[in-house]
Amino acid sequence: MSVSLWGRDPDRLEAAAGRCADAFTDTVDVTDAGAVDRAVGELRRRGRLRVVVWAAGLFDWAPADRADPATWTRLLDVNLTAAASLTARVLPALIDAAPSSLLYIGSGAAHQAFPGNAAYVAGKHGLAGLAEAVFLDVRDRDVKVSLISPGLVAAGAGLQSPAGRQRPDELLTPADVAAAARFVVTFPVRGCPTQIRLQPQRSPD
Ligand SMILES: NC(=O)c1ccc[n+]([C@@H]2O[C@H](COP(=O)([O-])OP(=O)(O)OC[C@H]3O[C@@H](n4cnc5c(N)ncnc54)[C@H](OP(=O)(O)O)[C@@H]3O)[C@@H](O)[C@H]2O)c1
Repeated sequence: MSVSLWGRDPDRLEAAAGRCADAFTDTVDVTDAGAVDRAVGELRRRGRLRVVVWAAGLFDWAPADRADPATWTRLLDVNLTAAASLTARVLPALIDAAPSSLLYIGSGAAHQAFPGNAAYVAGKHGLAGLAEAVFLDVRDRDVKVSLISPGLVAAGAGLQSPAGRQRPDELLTPADVAAAARFVVTFPVRGCPTQIRLQPQRSPD
């Protein structure tokens, strides 16, 4: 089975592809509808689409009364609008290839509010609703849909948090999130783990 990696930075994509057995890379900005359409077409030409993992996400720390509206718009475009529009674009291929899986990387912020983080919380809550509703639409066509919600991960913005700066070894790792994704994909087809919540074992403070 081959994997197609998407992102905007060709060098980062090539580095990630180098750690995979059989990977293609596609330079795609997920907010660019034309680029996404072309990349989905390319995926379909490569073979049957069995698993899609939505991981793209932006982060912003700002109290709501001092937030930059343009930053909030960009964050919600990536974290929610692009996720919904990709969903509509890939579901026909996932249905054709069923049993198949559509996974979204959520966050603790998909289930709980945090101060100074309103747009991120709103986007991740929206992603949780999207995952739950899409599952109802495709469950009888053997497409698993799952929201995987990690707490702090030693990656991206997680490394900039106080716990990430002080004790990065106690955070979750990207491999832990991948293990949850593997659990969903390999789960017997009669069932779907629709939500998985992961937390570091040690409390962050
Ligand atoms: N780190 C944590 O503690 C934590 C906790 C819970 C959930 N999460 C979630 O995990 C996911 C990955 O985050 P991360 O922490 O690993 O941060 P990261 O390294 O900054 O990853 C963010 C990813 O989103 C991609 N992305 C952003 N905007 C994009 C766009 N317009 N088009 C295409 N790709 C775009 C980035 O790719 P390029 O920049 O290469 O295009 C990058 O691969 C996010 O959804 C995040 O909300 C993270």
